[in-house]
Amino acid sequence: MEVVIVPDAMAGGELIAETMAALVRRKPDALLGVATGSTPLPVYEALTAKVRAGAVDVSRVRICQLDEYVGLPSGHPESYRSTVLRQVVEPLGLTEDSFLGPDGTARDVPAACAAYDRALAEAGGVDLQLLGIGTDGHIGFNEPCSSLASRTRIKTLTRQTREDNARFFDHDIEQVPHHVITQGIGTIMEARHLVLLATGEGKAEAVARSVEGPVAAVCPASALQLHPHATVVVDEAAASRLR
Ligand code: F6R
Repeated sequence: MEVVIVPDAMAGGELIAETMAALVRRKPDALLGVATGSTPLPVYEALTAKVRAGAVDVSRVRICQLDEYVGLPSGHPESYRSTVLRQVVEPLGLTEDSFLGPDGTARDVPAACAAYDRALAEAGGVDLQLLGIGTDGHIGFNEPCSSLASRTRIKTLTRQTREDNARFFDHDIEQVPHHVITQGIGTIMEARHLVLLATGEGKAEAVARSVEGPVAAVCPASALQLHPHATVVVDEAAASRLR
């Protein structure tokens, strides 16, 4: 695992966008796994700027989603499908055809989860998966004590994560769904390159436990220690509890 400390979130975004651009120059139809939440926004802004400046051609890139709320109606602005289309797919000039995600509206959720794992494998596997980290060490929506071998499945969000995400739902926790579909930790670990971005003091404890603590299900991001190509990009505040 490589840990890169950058001065701030903008620098982290630029570094990861350049890593993505370099991958796409080598492999124009790369499958890029993206995350939602606040942290990755500087990455998407920096990558979009590169595309608009003609520094990289992403026209054949495919985008896939890490996780999705269960039960939000199709087209809900806070569904992760809508969010990824708005924040990544459209700014990069791509269409929904280039996009893969789990179906959070499916009646048979376990079948939708299995179908998504199959779709990722049939697409050739994820080349680079971008990850954020929860204050409790979650990746995707694999909350503490998720199996490190888990596959895409339904999970119940902790109260902490629902509180953290209430800001996207008019600060009303009652509107935040209780359930999500998330790529499992085992699924995430199959990506060829994992890139985790963490910024701000609030993530410092989770970063320290993930990078320097024991590999344990109680801190899902610690699984990255076992990945052959994992890069953790942290700003100085998020790095402040590293030894
Ligand atoms: C979102 C996701 C989550 C977030 C994490 C951090 O797709 O998978 O693991 O990355 O909750 O969220 P932010 O970046 O908003 O602090």
